[in-house]
Amino acid sequence: MSAANPETVLITGASSGIGLELAKLFAADGSRLILSARNTEALEKLARELRSEHKIEAIVLPADLSLPESPKRIFQELSGQKISVDVLVNNAGFGLHDEFVQLPLARQLEIIQVNVMALTELTGLFLPGMIARKRGGILNVASVAGFLPGPSMAVYYASKAFVLSFTEALVEELTGTGVIISAFCPGATETNFSQVARGQKSRASKSVKMPADVASRYGYQAFRKKQAVAIPGFINRCLVFLIRILPRWSVRKAVNSYNKRD
Ligand SMILES: NC(=O)c1ccc[n+]([C@@H]2O[C@H](COP(=O)([O-])OP(=O)(O)OC[C@H]3O[C@@H](n4cnc5c(N)ncnc54)[C@H](OP(=O)(O)O)[C@@H]3O)[C@@H](O)[C@H]2O)c1
Repeated sequence: MSAANPETVLITGASSGIGLELAKLFAADGSRLILSARNTEALEKLARELRSEHKIEAIVLPADLSLPESPKRIFQELSGQKISVDVLVNNAGFGLHDEFVQLPLARQLEIIQVNVMALTELTGLFLPGMIARKRGGILNVASVAGFLPGPSMAVYYASKAFVLSFTEALVEELTGTGVIISAFCPGATETNFSQVARGQKSRASKSVKMPADVASRYGYQAFRKKQAVAIPGFINRCLVFLIRILPRWSVRKAVNSYNKRD
């Protein structure tokens, strides 16, 4: 894409962690960015930095994706400004750590709203335009958690299983359309994720984490290489291999002990 006609990239959850790092990588590539999340101040700060460092256009579009109307509002706002999105990065997401019955049900439904419903709706809203233009792509942030059941984070793991399965299905459906889609599946990564999940007392929270910039670079490069599923880190790839060959009951028990509070 030329500098005069840069690709336009919408990134959800761009205010911190993996989304923020992905924004830096797309900016370094000369993309025009639409940065979305709830924390407007953090988005404005990032937009200022990226504009001055990379001489790109960065638009801030605050949205709370736990509200069912948000995906449509984002789409309508951009359509109203005649902005077509070439690349959609569905990164916004969160989890909550504790047993299913101990956590407030409403908050767990919010996980599904943000991680599953908003991701699916944004995909459904922006994909037809990409197909019509015969170009573009979607980068869905799933997780290693999408490969296995997750006691003590049951809804979060299940939400990522949806993202992974949904994305892999679309990889096949989109073949030959000129539009690509990729599931990025990080393992434990240094971000605000554990703080939000409040899982600080579990073994999982004490595990070695990959720096967010390292994980994000892997996901970004895999997306550019049209890789369907991208798992950063040799150990994470070994884990996914083991998950696939071990009996399901043993995987469940291992995650249960990993996620349990000390
Ligand atoms: N860190 C890990 O170990 C790990 C591993 C695998 C996958 N992931 C996935 O990576 C993605 C990014 O998470 P992260 O690790 O970078 O954590 P993070 O630093 O907490 O970032 C989460 C991002 O999602 C946004 N977000 C959360 N709730 C939202 C809502 N209701 N509406 C709009 N935006 C919302 C947050 O922005 P605001 O708070 O400003 O709204 C923030 O920008 C998530 O999908 C997560 O599941 C993380």
